[in-house]
Amino acid sequence: MMRIDILTLFPEMFQSVLVPGIFERAIERGLVSVNTHNIRDYTHDKHHVVDDYAYGGGAGMILKPRPIFEAVESIKADIYKEEDRYGELPVILLTPQGRPFSQQIAVELSRYAGMILICGRYEGVDERVRQHLVTDEISIGDYVLSGGELAAMVVIDAVVRLLPGVLGSEDSAQDDSHATGLLEYPQYTRPAEYRGWAVPEVLLSGNHAGVARWRREQAVRRTLERRPELLDKVALSSEERELVDRLKNLSLGSAIK
Ligand code: 6GU
Repeated sequence: MMRIDILTLFPEMFQSVLVPGIFERAIERGLVSVNTHNIRDYTHDKHHVVDDYAYGGGAGMILKPRPIFEAVESIKADIYKEEDRYGELPVILLTPQGRPFSQQIAVELSRYAGMILICGRYEGVDERVRQHLVTDEISIGDYVLSGGELAAMVVIDAVVRLLPGVLGSEDSAQDDSHATGLLEYPQYTRPAEYRGWAVPEVLLSGNHAGVARWRREQAVRRTLERRPELLDKVALSSEERELVDRLKNLSLGSAIK
């Protein structure tokens, strides 16, 4: 069972995700537990203040270090109370300054027995949280969100669906776009012809080797057209490399025309 602890000022934002779909099955099957913690509950003052002005001035409030440190320490004390199977758990700050999230990082995180996610808010988090508490910082892309909550949900979704037993069919995560390093091939279902648009013949042929070859070729073509930079990182057979070169030459030819 993977244990996920989330520190946030808006725990209610996670209720919507924790009810339906993938997580519900994973939680019901005891494959994951998700616990939200309100950072405000770890304050000591009457008004439960979690943020303060930035030293040096400037607009925007900064999350204070103390409630975040004490929340993480309290969660860790609880986690390690009985069980030491958790090992060293990652403490991840969701921030646009983090390393870009990817399928590879999702796989990496799915191997831990748990993770602690800290959702940043407002204009920032006191730097000492980064320096002395957090072990990793993740961003989900080059755009600005109002807080780390949606990013945390993205990370959790990508990680939880990789846990053994979560997906219906054990290998349905294997062919996903990005799992192979290529984008996914086109998929069809019945009818074999819709409004005059036919499903590619090979998919109806029952020729399994032919289907596999077609799919791999389509995945390579689609990746070349949409995300050519991904092809630099992926392992291709010599046939596939030749296909890439042939397609590149073709598009060069048409660009000249
Ligand atoms: Cl992790 N947080 C915020 N606030 N904005 C983001 C992000 C994270 N990733 C991309 N944009």
